[in-house]
Amino acid sequence: MATAIPQTIAAPRSPSTDFAGAPPAWLPGMHFAAALAYFACGAAGLVLVAPDLARGAFFVPRVAAVVHLFVLGWLVLSIFGALCQFLPVAIGRQVRWQALAQVSFAAQTAGVAAFVGGLATSHRSVLYLGAGLLTLAFVSFGANLVATLAGAKERSLTFWALAGSSLFLLATPAFGFALAMNLHGDVQLASRFATVAAHAHVALVGFVMLVVVGVAHRLLPMFLLSHGASERPAWISVALLFAGALAIAMPASFGIPRIAAAAALTAGGLVAFFVQAALFFRHRKRRTIDPGMRLAAIGIAGIACALVLAPFALSAGVSNPRLLAAYFVVLVGAIGVFVAGHYFKIVPFIVWYHRFGPLVGKQKVPKVAELYSESAAKVVGALLVFGWIGVAAGTFTGSALVVRAFAGSFLAGALVEGFLMTKIARRRADA
Ligand code: HEM
Repeated sequence: MATAIPQTIAAPRSPSTDFAGAPPAWLPGMHFAAALAYFACGAAGLVLVAPDLARGAFFVPRVAAVVHLFVLGWLVLSIFGALCQFLPVAIGRQVRWQALAQVSFAAQTAGVAAFVGGLATSHRSVLYLGAGLLTLAFVSFGANLVATLAGAKERSLTFWALAGSSLFLLATPAFGFALAMNLHGDVQLASRFATVAAHAHVALVGFVMLVVVGVAHRLLPMFLLSHGASERPAWISVALLFAGALAIAMPASFGIPRIAAAAALTAGGLVAFFVQAALFFRHRKRRTIDPGMRLAAIGIAGIACALVLAPFALSAGVSNPRLLAAYFVVLVGAIGVFVAGHYFKIVPFIVWYHRFGPLVGKQKVPKVAELYSESAAKVVGALLVFGWIGVAAGTFTGSALVVRAFAGSFLAGALVEGFLMTKIARRRADA
C-alpha cells in the first residue's frame, strides 16, 4: 500500500488498489480548515504585536498569545490532521478511534481560542479553561496515537519517531499548565525564563520535530519521487532528538552539564535530519522542484539558521531580548513555512484521491498538480518567506516599521494560501 503512493501521484491509477484504508476526507479536512484560519489570525496578530517584537518584549502575554496562534493553531492542528490522513501510509494503520480524533480536534480548536483569549486579556479563568482544553486535546490525541501504534505490524523509523513524540505530547501541556498558573501567581516557578525555554523546546524538539522527521521520512521521498537514499541519518536523528528532548524535559537539576548535553544531542539530531533531507532531494527522480517542496526546503534551511542562532540567543537569554525574540521568530517561522509548503502537496492529493480517483478510466481527470495554479503557489511562497525573514530582521534590528511591513507580507501569504486551499477543496469533476 505505502510503496504504491508515488506512482499514484505521478500517474494516478485506481485508488482502491493504491491507497486503501484512507480516512474520510472530512477528518483531515476539518483540521486543515481550522489550521488555515488560525494561520491567518496568527499572521494578523503579528502585525498587531510588531512594536512589542521590535522592543524584544517577547514575554508579554499578547506576544505569547500570537506565538500560540502559530504553534497550537497552525502547527499542532496541521500535525493532527496530517497524522489522521497519513497514519495508514506511514505505519499501515488507520487512526484507532475516529470519534476520539474528533474530540481532540474540538478540544484543540476551542482550546486555542480560549487560551489565546485568556492570555491576551489576562483573564485567569478563561486562560485555565483554554489550558485545560488543550491538555485534553494533547492527552486524547496522544492516547489515540499510542493505541494506533500498538496495532502496527512493522517497527519502522516512522513508528519509533511517533512513539517518541507521544511522550512529549504529554510533557508539553504539563509545562504549559504550570506556566499559566505561574502567570497568575497560583504557583511560583523558580525561573520563568528557564521554564519557558524548556517548555518551548520540549514541544518543538520532542513533539513537533520528532513528528516532522518521522512523517517527512515517508512524505519527502513520496512527493519528490526519491529512491535509493540511505536512511541511516534519519535513525540517528530520531534517537538524538528523543534523547535531547528528554534531557531538556528533566527537572532543572544537573545544571550546565545537562543543558550542554541537551544542546549537543538536539543539534546532532537536527544535523542528521538536514543530511537525510539533502539525501532525499539529491536522489529525487523528478528534477524540477515544485513550489510546495521548495517551500519545505526553505523551511528546513530556516531550521538550520535557528540552530546557528540558538547558542547565542539562549545563553544571552533575557539580557538580549531582541536576539531571543528574533531566534523564536526564525525557529517557529521556519517550521511554519515547512508546513505551509506541505499543504500544496497534501490538500490537492486528498481532493484528487476522493473526487477524481474514482473516475479514472471512466472520464478524463486532471493530474494532482493541475488542481492549483503553480504561479499562485509561487506568489504565496514568496510572500511568506519574504515576510518571515523581514519580521526576523526587523525584530533583531529593533524596527517596528520593518516588522509591521513584513508581517503584512506574511499575512498576505497566509490569506492567499487559505484562499487557494479553499479553491482546491471546492474542485469537483465536471458532470
Ligand atoms: C507545540 C506546542 C507548544 C509550543 C511549540 C509552545 C511554545 C511556546 C513558546 C515559544 C513560548 C514563549 C512565548 C512568549 O513568551 O512569547 C510559550 C509560552 C507559554 N506557553 Fe507554550 N507552547 C506549546 C503548547 C502550550 C500548551 C499546550 C500550553 C498550555 C497548556 C502552553 C502554555 C504556555 C504559557 C502559559 C506560556 C507563557 C509563559 C510566560 O510567558 O510566562 N503552551 N510556549
